Amino acid sequence: MENKKIIFSGIQPTSTPHLGNYLGALKNWVAMQDEYECVYSVVDLHAVTVRQEPAKLRGQIAETYALLMAMGIDTEKTVLFVQGHNPHHTQLAWLLSCYTGFGELSRMTQFKDKSEKHSENINAGLFTYPVLQAADILLYQADLVPVGEDQKQHLEISRDIAVRFNNIYGEAFTLPQAHIPLGCGKVMSLSEPRRKMSKSDENPHACISVLDDRDTVVRKFKRAVTDSGSEIVYREGDDLKAGINNLISIYAAVTGKTVAETEKEFSGKGYGEFKLAVGEAVADMFKPVREEYARIAADKTHLISRMRDGAEKSMKISAKTLKKVCKKVGFLQL
Ligand code: TRP
Repeated sequence: MENKKIIFSGIQPTSTPHLGNYLGALKNWVAMQDEYECVYSVVDLHAVTVRQEPAKLRGQIAETYALLMAMGIDTEKTVLFVQGHNPHHTQLAWLLSCYTGFGELSRMTQFKDKSEKHSENINAGLFTYPVLQAADILLYQADLVPVGEDQKQHLEISRDIAVRFNNIYGEAFTLPQAHIPLGCGKVMSLSEPRRKMSKSDENPHACISVLDDRDTVVRKFKRAVTDSGSEIVYREGDDLKAGINNLISIYAAVTGKTVAETEKEFSGKGYGEFKLAVGEAVADMFKPVREEYARIAADKTHLISRMRDGAEKSMKISAKTLKKVCKKVGFLQL
């Protein structure tokens, strides 16, 4: 690799990405490809920490991979691979788990949240999830990891593990830093705008999937919950305005306009007209993604060949780190 900084990030293949995933993370994954050496992974191993239906999981892994390509991840420039296709991740994760404290893992808020949500299946994988994530990042000597609020603690523990290992054995791992993307912050639910947009929302109109067709997108935006007002004005921190604030941020992020420009464009117009405009802008943005996805998903042979190539490229990089680490620990090399 040249002198570009290395970025690593992962996405779980548990559901079709939504507008929040796209504006908050994936759009940025695409944008970073020229400036950085990017390694992106569809993290199927993380996904099975909660029970998955096998046929559905298989489909979701392929869908997620194809969708990333459709959004513009270029498999020539960027290493795009399925985590489970590279055995080095589980190998390093085992090793790192021997350098991770039980207490440290017990303090992870995501573990606490998920154990509550899946109380019937609090398995050891759910507990050691952050160690596998540390292995993902450290195997590629990543300099930067784009993280949202929910993943900050996982990046922090990855750094702690790396520091601990380096202190015992000498420089083995680059210390990864958080990469805070510019642009859109959180995208909120269209039905409960005080909550984050989420696939698991009971209300089917709350969440826009990147594969929703035009009519569906427009219909969901038409039904978006706002308030009894009528002016298209952004009021920072005003809870009553959470709905309209959300729509304004989405419109600004999608069109590249500022909030002020958006307010001006819609001054004197009502919520109805604005909702339609936001819906159409989002539908326009996803149209090429949907079309490209259909094309890529139709050619399974090509998709598999891209995955195979990605797996090989990733293994070539991760093998170097794994070898170095095994040597340092004192494993006998054959
Ligand atoms: N835990 C991350 C999530 O749920 C996914 C992930 C796995 C990841 N490995 C990673 C993200 C490494 C960044 C870096 O979103």
